[in-house]
Amino acid sequence: MIKRPIIIDTDPGIDDAVAIAVALFSEELDVKLITTVSGNVSLDKVTYNAMCLLKYFGKEEIPVAAGASKPLLREVIDASDIHGKTGMEGFDFDEPDMSKLLKEHAIDAMRKVILESNEKVTIVPIGPLTNIALLIRTYPEVMENIEELVIMGGSTGRGNAGVMAEFNFYADPEAAKIVMKSGLKISITPLDVGLKALVLPEDSEQIKLMNKTGEMFYSLFKRYRGGSFSTGLKMYDSCAIAYLLKPEMFETAFTFVDIETKGELTYGCSVVDLRGYLKEEPNATVCIDVDAQMFRDWLMDRIRNCN
Ligand code: RIB
Ligand code: CA
Repeated sequence: MIKRPIIIDTDPGIDDAVAIAVALFSEELDVKLITTVSGNVSLDKVTYNAMCLLKYFGKEEIPVAAGASKPLLREVIDASDIHGKTGMEGFDFDEPDMSKLLKEHAIDAMRKVILESNEKVTIVPIGPLTNIALLIRTYPEVMENIEELVIMGGSTGRGNAGVMAEFNFYADPEAAKIVMKSGLKISITPLDVGLKALVLPEDSEQIKLMNKTGEMFYSLFKRYRGGSFSTGLKMYDSCAIAYLLKPEMFETAFTFVDIETKGELTYGCSVVDLRGYLKEEPNATVCIDVDAQMFRDWLMDRIRNCN
């Protein structure tokens, strides 16, 4: 099987942790690099968390590079209310060897991986898009060797961080706008599917007993406020990996997407023009629905495989 080369750009983050695990243990994917970005919590914490995860999964050979510590323009916001102060509260990870963290900036590490790859590289941003915007503006030569961006972000409707803004896009709207206008092949798994991609109570009880990864996830889930044990835990970021590995789970629309960066009340809103009012050429494939049961079955199977 030819493994698809990917880079995961992330802000772990409890739901990021699940997405990263599934990707690392998927034989279809070759995770070439993990880059971190300020988002759920500060850059130092998300970077430490990424290193903790790789140590926990026995995958310390995968390089990690830290990226942007703040958005391009707006003030820093975080989601520590959702993920805890550390960003992955609920489980005590062994100290990782932080000397293994790459010395170069995330965009330099991404540039090297992309330009050296014999196959076009897919980038999976599951945090704010600051690193991605910096990468394509600083090193435009990478564009021709990027296969696709598969992004967790945005919403065709209401937000989860602002009235009309989803957290990843709200955390750096200007970066999101740069990326949407880049001309790269873009697929998006927005809140519309993230809110239906749930780990239900019966799933959590099974996950707890599956393996050491499930045991760790269960501990994190007790602190995760992206939903709840009883109503379902929202696996936003795993939707991006699910789209890569089982796109048939999703209903999609090829449409025009832009980001509001001037709206006083709608700053960070992803404007998804499903009915073509703006008469703009489509620039993204947007997942507008997901088979929730198929997602659950898929995720349980993938977590079972994380060992
Ligand atoms: O809106 C969901 C996104 O914001 C996810 O990436 C999650 O990690 C949170 O940071
Ligand atoms: Ca995330």
